[in-house]
Amino acid sequence: MKTILITGATSGIGEATVKQFLGKSWKVIATGRNEEKLNNLKSAGAEIIKTDITNPQDINNLVTHIVNNGLKIDVLVNNAGFGQFGTIEETPDNKAKAQFETNVFGLASVTRAILPEMRKNRNGRIINVSSIAGKTSMPGGGWYSASKFAVEAISDSLRWEVKQFGIKVSIIEPGPIKTGFANTVNNNVVIEDSGPYGNLVKGLTGSGKSVKGGTAEGCAKTIYRAATAKNPRNRYLVTKEAKLIKFLLIILPPKIMDYFVMRMFIPKK
Ligand SMILES: NC(=O)c1ccc[n+]([C@@H]2O[C@H](COP(=O)([O-])OP(=O)(O)OC[C@H]3O[C@@H](n4cnc5c(N)ncnc54)[C@H](OP(=O)(O)O)[C@@H]3O)[C@@H](O)[C@H]2O)c1
Repeated sequence: MKTILITGATSGIGEATVKQFLGKSWKVIATGRNEEKLNNLKSAGAEIIKTDITNPQDINNLVTHIVNNGLKIDVLVNNAGFGQFGTIEETPDNKAKAQFETNVFGLASVTRAILPEMRKNRNGRIINVSSIAGKTSMPGGGWYSASKFAVEAISDSLRWEVKQFGIKVSIIEPGPIKTGFANTVNNNVVIEDSGPYGNLVKGLTGSGKSVKGGTAEGCAKTIYRAATAKNPRNRYLVTKEAKLIKFLLIILPPKIMDYFVMRMFIPKK
């Protein structure tokens, strides 16, 4: 039986991924911060380990648990992440850093913790959940995109570095997915309603509330493909929106892309 470890497993894409792999009779180690939700996953058949990926002690405990129980992690899914939206001028350093603490340094910490065993086994897969926002930015989404651009760069370097040990690395690039993500974004928008960028608030929170797009289950199926394909792709785009954006980035001159982004996100004052 193969074993998968998933971060941020307590909701959305992470939770759906737990269920997808349990349904395929994998051993699933679900990690996250919310104890009540972790217990629900335990009832569903997962092994649970409480882990805040920004907490070094939690990461140590995770490794100790894996080593003490002789667990062999075949696949690591770095899924935990959140969106912190706000303009570059109005977002204070601590908010921007918090975005990187989870989406970038948390992902790197978990990866560093799991890699030695994978190297020893000369086998393993790491699947990093990035975003189409790791390919292009948007007004008000600069820091979130910066964190996902970083995930893209780190994942590429890692793939080249660990190939020699038989470890494969793939990146998942979802477009909008109906999860708790948009609510977290809406509760964290750092733009003053009455400030110079007030018009952006409507564009961002409005678009968040009426999220169209794919499902967490659909994304989990793509993660399953990345985990089980003989030769997994470097990147998996998820949702038609992500595929369209990637296509437009390739064919449109940057200034035309600017025009569409402005039309989409900056309502007239
Ligand atoms: N939904 C989208 O439209 C979309 C699009 C592209 C990419 N993504 C990416 O997909 C991933 C999953 O997001 P989602 O859509 O499933 O949103 P979600 O429903 O909000 O799930 C995010 C998960 O990450 C967990 N998390 C956040 N910070 C954590 C930390 N420090 N330690 C451990 N767990 C932490 C959350 O736990 P708590 O419940 O404890 O907060 C939650 O379980 C994220 O990396 C996100 O950037 C999402």
